Amino acid sequence: MTTPTTKSGLEDVVVSTSEICFIDGDRGRLLYRGYDIHDLVDHASFEETASLLWNGALPKRAELENLRKALATQRRLPPKVLTLLRSLPRKSDSMDVLRTAVSLLGIYDPDSGDDSREANLRKAVRIQAQVPTLVAAWSRIRKGKAPIPPNPRLSLAGNLLYMLFGKKPSPLAEKAMDTALILHADHELNASTFAARVTVATLSDMHSGVVSGIGTLKGPLHGGANVGVMRMLLEIGDVDRAETWIKNALAQKKRIMGFGHRVYNTEDPRATHLRRLSEQLGREAGELKWFEMSRIIERVVNAEKGLHANVDFYSASTYYTLGIPIDLFTPIFAVSRVSGWTAHCLEQYSNNRLIRPRTDYIGPEFPQTFLPLEQR
Ligand code: ACO
Repeated sequence: MTTPTTKSGLEDVVVSTSEICFIDGDRGRLLYRGYDIHDLVDHASFEETASLLWNGALPKRAELENLRKALATQRRLPPKVLTLLRSLPRKSDSMDVLRTAVSLLGIYDPDSGDDSREANLRKAVRIQAQVPTLVAAWSRIRKGKAPIPPNPRLSLAGNLLYMLFGKKPSPLAEKAMDTALILHADHELNASTFAARVTVATLSDMHSGVVSGIGTLKGPLHGGANVGVMRMLLEIGDVDRAETWIKNALAQKKRIMGFGHRVYNTEDPRATHLRRLSEQLGREAGELKWFEMSRIIERVVNAEKGLHANVDFYSASTYYTLGIPIDLFTPIFAVSRVSGWTAHCLEQYSNNRLIRPRTDYIGPEFPQTFLPLEQR
């Protein structure tokens, strides 16, 4: 018998090849299908980015138009899914709601039961179209309001804001949301993508893969950190208190949400853009407090712990300034990551082998003598 080796948290363990995403953690580089994230932010839309992730190449004009149309015309939710949302306790956790509702979407999906590549591509587009509607519908239904029907003339980012607030977003707000969606779209074998791949590697269906991804993204060490960041900013409350507050937190060995990363040893390239967006939106709103507070926290955490801000740090103040309710921050992360999860599911199906690692057994010595119930 060979002695198994373990690596806590699978750190640096390479478990598969992939053509989708490359991260250079030392240089702070992130590329989707070979395209630098900075170029995608500067030149592409979220729809183009999703197409790139799914198909492996940037879409030609007609392909992009077809995708936009497919996304825009499939935004409506099956009535039974809306009925489910209305039946849930209004205080339900938004990620729990999203996970439950995507599960139901799988049952009503027109391609349910068909796991061919063509059907899975259609499912990827459909889930991508429906998840923003789910998030926005839940944000209204839990307040006793009617969901705002999607507007097929708006971009995915613009329509998401429209369905949340009932009015067309400003060009800066739409651009900020589009950029945030591009930045969150994929990140190699992060925990939720790994979960999605493990799920579909059993040849389970794509909705199950996405449900696994949502459940995994929810945790505060992963996508849930953006909520933790905003709660921290609100607790600090004032720019003047930020430095002392964060120094105290560090002295108490508290984990500061939005800092640190398993792969990046330098600035997370996504944080660079979100920092800029947080500032721009703050200026437009005439409220720079959250940005300024974030800058102080970033400086102190970097100086004292050598930790850098990750994607979740500035997305918090960015979303808050956009007016998004705090508990929808992680669902909005999921809106974007659907593109990455489904791209990875497609790749997993195309060259599948069951993912089934081992543990190094450190339990009781064996064989133990079995004692009947009455003798224990
Ligand atoms: N605040 C304070 N200390 C930290 C932080 C942090 N945010 N992150 C890491 N550290 C410290 C740890 O306490 C530990 O110190 P020690 O060796 O003295 O005990 C050391 O850095 C290594 O930390 P690990 O938890 O072992 O690092 P790991 O690679 O497992 O964790 C993680 C990475 C989970 C992202 C971690 O940095 C963290 O908890 N960050 C806060 C949560 C967060 O922002 N998550 C979002 C990540 S991005 C994303 O998932 C989309």
